[in-house]
This record gives sequence, C-alpha cells and structure tokens, in this order.
Amino acid sequence: MSDFLEQLVTTAQAMVAPGKGILAIDESTGTIAKRLASVKVENTEEHRIDYRSMLLTTQGLGDYISGAILYDETIRQKTPDGKRIVEVMNEAGILPGIKVDTGAKPLAGFDDEKVTEGLDGLRERLSEYVELGATFCKWRAVITIGDDIPSRTCIEANAHALARYAALCQEAGLVPIVEPEVLMDGTHDLDTSFDVTEATLKALFNQLYEHNVLLEGTVLKASMVISGSEADNRASVEEVAEATVDCLLNAVPASVAGIVFLSGGQTEVEATAHLNAMNNLGDLPWPLSFSYGRALQHGALTEWAADPKGNRASAQKILHHRARMNGLAAMGEWNEADEG
Ligand code: 13P
Repeated sequence: MSDFLEQLVTTAQAMVAPGKGILAIDESTGTIAKRLASVKVENTEEHRIDYRSMLLTTQGLGDYISGAILYDETIRQKTPDGKRIVEVMNEAGILPGIKVDTGAKPLAGFDDEKVTEGLDGLRERLSEYVELGATFCKWRAVITIGDDIPSRTCIEANAHALARYAALCQEAGLVPIVEPEVLMDGTHDLDTSFDVTEATLKALFNQLYEHNVLLEGTVLKASMVISGSEADNRASVEEVAEATVDCLLNAVPASVAGIVFLSGGQTEVEATAHLNAMNNLGDLPWPLSFSYGRALQHGALTEWAADPKGNRASAQKILHHRARMNGLAAMGEWNEADEG
C-alpha cells in the first residue's frame, strides 16, 4: 500500500481507537437554530461559536473523543479567546472532521423521499478543507420508512452519491464517514427497520466497491436497527443490540475500519446502553463505537443555555461524563450504576 493510502488507514483507525468515539457538532445553521431555540438561545454566530468552543475546550475530552465533525462555518472560526478552533482541537488530540454534503433534498418523482446533494464542486471544496486542517469528512443520506417507502430508487440514488463522495474524499487524502441514516421516525417494527437497513447497507457497499473506495480507509456511520419512535411494544435494549449486529454482519465487509452509530433521537442513556450491549455480543470484525450528536450534547446544551457564562464549567462536566460513559460502552464496560 502507498504511503498516501497508509495515512488514510491510520487516520481511520485513530477515529475508532479503543474506547473512543466521535462528537458530531456539524449541525447546519438551520438545525442548530432548532437546537438553540429548544433552549431559548438566539441563533447568532457568536452564540454558535461560544457554545461549540465550550464543548471543544472541555478538559480531558480527547481521552474519549477521537474526532469531532464540524460545520463549514465552525472550521473557519476562532474561539472567543482568538484561537483557531482547529488548533484547539489539535492540541486536545481531537481530529478535525467536516460535514461536506449540502443537505437532503426532495427526490424528484418520489413523494416523501430525499436524496443528499453536494457533489458539484466537491473536489475543490475538499482541497480547501485540507488546507483548513480537516482529516476526515461526513456525508449523510436519509432513508425514510413509511407506506411503500423507501423505494429502490431512493436507496440506490443515495448509495451512488455516497460512493462518489467517498472516492473524492480519498483522492484528497481525507477519510470518508459514509452515513446512510434510516430514520427511526414512524410506527414500524424492528423487522422492518432490519430489512430497510440491510438493503440500504448492501446497496451502499456495492456502490463503494464499484467506485474503488478503500474500505480500510472508510468509517461507516450507521443507524441502529430499532423500533420506530411511535411503535407499540418497542424492542428492548438486548433485541436492538442483537438485530443491529446481525444486520451489520450480513451487510458490512470486515475490511471497513470501523462502525460508529448516530443517536437519531434516542435518549442519552439509551444510546449508551445500546452501544454497550452490542459490544458485549462477542468478537466482531470491526470496532463499534459512537458518533452521537444529540446523545452527547443534550445535557451539556441544556446546562450551558441556562447561563452561558456562569455554567460553562458545569456544562463541560456533563459533556465529559457523557463522553466517558460512551467510551466505556465502546468497550462493553459501561454499567448503569456508572451514570451516578
Ligand atoms: P444524532 O446523534 O443527533 O442523530 O446526530 C448524529 C449525526 O451527525 C447525524 O448526521
């Protein structure tokens, strides 16, 4: 393998190092607006960098967080004390990552389905992100479960875009996180989630193969196989863990560097418990870890928002705890009693 490819593999392995996972703070300006509105903070550039600097300057965060996914605005910003955010991350041992898709847009001809955009000009944007200090990227596709959906067309269109994105990332020396999120919204049962997730992942890995993507230099960000959020008799932690691992074993090649999960609307402790249960199911071909957004940030965001200046340290303490709990879960060593 060339030195160039070796570097990709080394970065991918560092992203899923034992006991570490990824912090997702790459909410677009629209999504962060919703998060800040939920805690009654005005969505200004100043508040966004204040909040995100608070998270990234948490002492000891790098013990459990291998990398953080930033949004375009954030990778260019400085902390309130004038330090580039990327520099803060490098000093903390946290790899800078960047979301590069431009969002999920309605898929023409298919009601209620979406395809993720952002390929136009991507090669040029990636070279700029390399200059800015990024080491890995994220692209999120969205698959919705409903009456007669997802369609094959939606699954294939998203898999194709993910593979083109991943190939461009590797060409630029950046590790792609490929994220085909099967939404948990709806009343569907565990079996439906399993079938849709399996079909989505198989289509994705077929396209990654077709596009010559090096799997050892790729990280999969997966949604768990889980009952719909509105379903009756939702599956237990054990059932979710077993179904998710079975599905991944069916569909994900062993050469993938690692798998990290999104939280997708699960509570913080639920997301930790699911990851921990999966890591107790015996030897698996890849590390299983986390790349949570809401399930890492929720408590810290709520605490910070109550008094952004006065509660900085207490909000950081909450984030540190959550990161530590998930770090333990990534090794199958979490116990509910550790929650305190
Ligand atoms: P959640 O964990 O809040 O689902 O966010 C993770 C993410 O980055 C989705 O793309």
